[in-house]
Amino acid sequence: MTNASDWQGTVGRSWASEWRRTDVSFSDLTPKLLAAIAREPGAAVADIGCGAGELSIAIAEARPQAQVTGVDISADLVDAAGSRAIQPNLTFELADASQWQPASRPDLYVSRHGVMFFSDPQAAFAHLAAQAMPGARMVFSCFRKAAENDWAAAIAALLPKGDSPPASPTAPGPFAFALPEHVRRCMAGWRAVEFAPVDFRYIAGTGPDAVGEAMALFGRIGPAAAALRTLPEAERAAVEMRLAELVEAHHRDGVVAFNAAAWLVSATSDHNDG
Ligand SMILES: C[S@@+](CC[C@H](N)C(=O)[O-])C[C@H]1O[C@@H](n2cnc3c(N)ncnc32)[C@H](O)[C@@H]1O
Repeated sequence: MTNASDWQGTVGRSWASEWRRTDVSFSDLTPKLLAAIAREPGAAVADIGCGAGELSIAIAEARPQAQVTGVDISADLVDAAGSRAIQPNLTFELADASQWQPASRPDLYVSRHGVMFFSDPQAAFAHLAAQAMPGARMVFSCFRKAAENDWAAAIAALLPKGDSPPASPTAPGPFAFALPEHVRRCMAGWRAVEFAPVDFRYIAGTGPDAVGEAMALFGRIGPAAAALRTLPEAERAAVEMRLAELVEAHHRDGVVAFNAAAWLVSATSDHNDG
């Protein structure tokens, strides 16, 4: 489980310091998401859970006439996004999207894996619909099941089994939106909800030190990171060794990559002002 306060604390700080690597990790997914967004109208675009802003920046570049706003709950990530963006039609705002009051009403919401962390997703999606133009569109990506995402399943398998009972599969977190029927229930205020499966390569590392890059990524981001932060020294060393073996096994031609599986979800706001 990963919730709002995790993003406002350690997890957000890790993503803010690792944004170059997290952008690389999504680099096979991002063009597919951008292609889906390109078919959508939108003059006021809001990127929900924008993180360090790569998607917002790409949309602001592609749509110079549009006003693009990236919204995120992590101050570290909003700072990281602001430090790399120069487009005049792009702003970043620090806010909980479930309570965000936009200056101008979006007609298109987008998100790259930023909408699965709401503690009350139905209230959050209803709020987003109410803030938007009538008939606004939404397009976002989210992971399918952990079992379909080799990087997550393989890393989880090499971690020590904890004593705590497993969290609910729909608890806020990276895999909370794996099940379409659950997503439909969460998307209060939205209709015509459609799911397109997208398989992509999760790029953990590239370049002359691809293995080192992947180890650095997994040391700060994802399921191994929390364990490496909290385990006693001996267990931590054992996890690091197994992680290094896993990464080596996925290293080919200067790239460490894992199979990953996502949904591209699109919907239309059901809200009207009357
Ligand atoms: C998996 S990261 C994705 C970040 C970014 N979209 C990307 O693709 O790099 C999830 C993002 O959602 C943000 N987030 C989580 N809950 C949020 C909320 N209630 N309101 C706004 N942002 C939120 C986190 O701070 C984080 O930046």
